Amino acid sequence: SKEGYSHFMLKEIHEQPMALRNTLAGIERDEVTKIGAELADARHIFITASGTSLHAGLIGDYLLTTVAGADVHTFTSSEYRKYMKTAGEGDVAIVVSQSGETIDALLALRALKSAGVKVIAISNVMDSAIPRESHLAIYTRTGPEIGVAATKTFTAQLMVLTILAMSAAAARGYVNDDEAAYFMNEMEQVPDVVQATLANNEAKIKRVAASISRASSMYYLGRGLGLPISMEGALKMKEVAYIHAEAYPAGESKHGPIALVEKSFPVLFTIFNDEYGEAMEGNIMEMKARDAYAIGVIPKSLEERLDKVLDIAIPIGVEEPAIATIAYSVPMQLLAYYTAVARGLDPDKPRNLAKTVTVE
Ligand code: F6R
Repeated sequence: SKEGYSHFMLKEIHEQPMALRNTLAGIERDEVTKIGAELADARHIFITASGTSLHAGLIGDYLLTTVAGADVHTFTSSEYRKYMKTAGEGDVAIVVSQSGETIDALLALRALKSAGVKVIAISNVMDSAIPRESHLAIYTRTGPEIGVAATKTFTAQLMVLTILAMSAAAARGYVNDDEAAYFMNEMEQVPDVVQATLANNEAKIKRVAASISRASSMYYLGRGLGLPISMEGALKMKEVAYIHAEAYPAGESKHGPIALVEKSFPVLFTIFNDEYGEAMEGNIMEMKARDAYAIGVIPKSLEERLDKVLDIAIPIGVEEPAIATIAYSVPMQLLAYYTAVARGLDPDKPRNLAKTVTVE
């Protein structure tokens, strides 16, 4: 039942604090340490998934690469054939699938496995095909996701992948015990931060949704961790609000996409408290110079500064970027949801989409 919410999507967005608490409680520390060591020793790491789960995978890729120094190749499962000559013994693959039944991911898994790769599944459905056929499975524990647009399973996947990446970094000696403990402590705060993000921003996002609801096109720009979060935000907007939303690395926006920007064209900037802040500020100014409508999901620490250049600032109360990705996803989900509603659409029944895709 929708328990008083007008749609499953909204209910599931609001279930995230609980879904994240349960996922964290279900993660076995010993298992994470073991997998972290395997990831640290792997020759290559392949991450494969589709849609939203692929975007979670890209966050895992960024962290495994930058924090753990791993050699990671992330690809949409339907393109697995490209990697078959490079995959083999000594490699580890992570297959991410909420449903555990997506045919593209399943075919990629089988191919990787027969090449001799050790396969770890991340899924929300116990004993579904993908975890069953993998060597090892880790579960997100969000409860069933009914809304076609993935929401709570995405943030739970981010949590699991981030913890695995930190564990790999620890195994490689890039993170010491104190840093690892600090990190897990921060992760334990995430459900509360998500709760606060919901409470503090929902009304504001409803207003932003009303003002973008007549747009036919928009951009989501980010750098670093901000890129996969932008890609996921844009996918949500396309899926439920049917607005042509495209995500770009903010640095790429000058190399073509900016040609479309004119007065009131919505551009959503995802900015973390990281080394990309200044470059992102420059990108906001470029877009404002073309009269774009600039929305920013930003860290609280940059609020005073970026408030001056953005039309709308959505400040998030967590500064550590690797942890903040989870909370940052929430305003993206709400924006897609309320934009769909403002356009008179039913976000639970997006046209042409099925919850689980079982054809290639
Ligand atoms: C997006 C969405 C799809 C799925 C994709 C993979 O909201 O629902 O893009 O993420 O079809 O599904 P799973 O994770 O079940 O393999």
